[in-house]
Amino acid sequence: MNTFIIAALTLDGKIAKYPEHNSYSWTCAEDKKFFIEKTKDAGVVILGRKTWELIGKPFEDRLVVVMTRRMGQGSGDKGQGIRGVEFTDKSPAEILSDLENRGFKGAAVAGGAEVYAEFLRADLVDEMFITVHSIIFGEGIDFVSGVEIDNFDVLDTKMFGSKSCLLHVRHRV
Ligand SMILES: NC(=O)c1ccc[n+]([C@@H]2O[C@H](COP(=O)([O-])OP(=O)(O)OC[C@H]3O[C@@H](n4cnc5c(N)ncnc54)[C@H](OP(=O)(O)O)[C@@H]3O)[C@@H](O)[C@H]2O)c1
Repeated sequence: MNTFIIAALTLDGKIAKYPEHNSYSWTCAEDKKFFIEKTKDAGVVILGRKTWELIGKPFEDRLVVVMTRRMGQGSGDKGQGIRGVEFTDKSPAEILSDLENRGFKGAAVAGGAEVYAEFLRADLVDEMFITVHSIIFGEGIDFVSGVEIDNFDVLDTKMFGSKSCLLHVRHRV
C-alpha cells in the first residue's frame, strides 16, 4: 500500500485562512488537475470529517473514507448512505490495513491538518505531494503542528505556471 499526503500550502505554511476556507477557492488550475489525477491513481481519498463537510459530495471514481470519532451520531457521519463515501472511527493504521485487505494499492491522505498530523505521527506516510502557492495568508491553519519529522527527502519538483511549485518528497528507507 502506497500512502501519500496531498496538500496545497501557502508560503507561510497554511492550508486554509479560516476553518471554512475551501482550498478549491485559492489553488491554481494545474494543482486541481494534479489532485484529480493523483487521487484517481490511488483510488482512495482519506479525509477528516471537517474537510469532508466542506466538500460534501463524493469524488468521481474514488472511494472517500471520512474519519470521525462520532460514528452513529448525525454530527459526525453526516452523509452516511452517499455512494462512494464511507465513515470510520478506526485508527489510521487500521484504515490502511482494511483498504489493503480490500485490494487497494494506494491511499491519498487529503487533509485537513488533524488528519495529516495523525498519519505522519503514526509514521504511515510514504510520500508527500505538496504544492506551494506563492501567497501568504498571514493567519490560518498550519499544514501540521505537534509533529516533528526529519526523514523525508525531496525527489522532484515541478512548476505549475509561475505562481506554484509542486514538491514531491519521499520517506527515507
Ligand atoms: N490546502 C489543502 O490542501 C487542504 C486540504 C484539506 C483540508 N484543508 C483545510 O483544512 C481545514 C480542516 O482541517 P482540520 O484539521 O480543522 O480538520 P480535519 O482534519 O479535516 O477534520 C478533523 C476531524 O476529523 C476527525 N478525526 C481526525 N482524526 C481522527 C481519528 N484519529 N479518528 C477518528 N476521527 C478523526 C474528527 O472528526 P469528528 O469531530 O467528527 O470526531 C476531527 O474533528 C479546512 O479549512 C480545509 O479547507 C486544506
